[in-house]
Amino acid sequence: MILYQVKDYKELSRKAANIISAQVIMKPHAVLGLATGSTPIGAYEQLVEWYKKGDLDFSKVTSVNLDEYKGLSGDSDQSYRYFMNTNLFDHVNIDKSRTFVPDGLEEDSEAACAKYDAVIQSVGGIDLQLLGIGGNGHIGFNEPGEAFIPMTHCVALTKSTIEANARFFASMDEVPKYAYTMGIKNIMSANKVLLLASGEGKAQALYDSFYGPVIPEVPASVLQLHNDVVVVADDAALRVCKEKGAL
Ligand code: PGA
Repeated sequence: MILYQVKDYKELSRKAANIISAQVIMKPHAVLGLATGSTPIGAYEQLVEWYKKGDLDFSKVTSVNLDEYKGLSGDSDQSYRYFMNTNLFDHVNIDKSRTFVPDGLEEDSEAACAKYDAVIQSVGGIDLQLLGIGGNGHIGFNEPGEAFIPMTHCVALTKSTIEANARFFASMDEVPKYAYTMGIKNIMSANKVLLLASGEGKAQALYDSFYGPVIPEVPASVLQLHNDVVVVADDAALRVCKEKGAL
């Protein structure tokens, strides 16, 4: 694992954008595995800025996203498709037909997951997979559990996630109860993994993931077995690693 220790979110975003843009410059046909959530927003903003300056070209890039809510259409402003369009795709010259997100409107979970695994295979696998990390060590929607689930699968969202999401919806009934997510093998098959962690809320998970045992109760710990992982973490996220003497 290569760890970049940065001061704050601004530096983290710039470093992450640097690594992603290096990938695109080295391989214009790169397949980027992309992530949603609050953490990558700054990196996407930086990429858009460099694109607008003429320093980056996404015209040959393909993207596959980690996950999507089941039951939401791409037009819904809570969908991850909408997030990707508004935070990145609408602002750069990526060919939208080469951007893939699991199909939230496919009601047949098995079909949706099989279709997405086939998409990942058909694009030739992932060159660089971008990841955030949950405060509980989750990656994508791979939540702590009894086993690592290898391929794309449907997960039942936890009660706390549903309640946390309720504020974005008119009523509780409209909050998605399930999501489709890439599995651990999908993620581990990427040539390179870039994990971003910012803030105190990630400090324990970061320590457990990279300095604790590899166990499915801490999904990100599996990344210890990947031979090309880059972690960019800010001071707040590194607090426990430092306190425990890991760094
Ligand atoms: P966040 O989520 O970027 O919004 O903190 C990360 C994650 O849960 O994977």
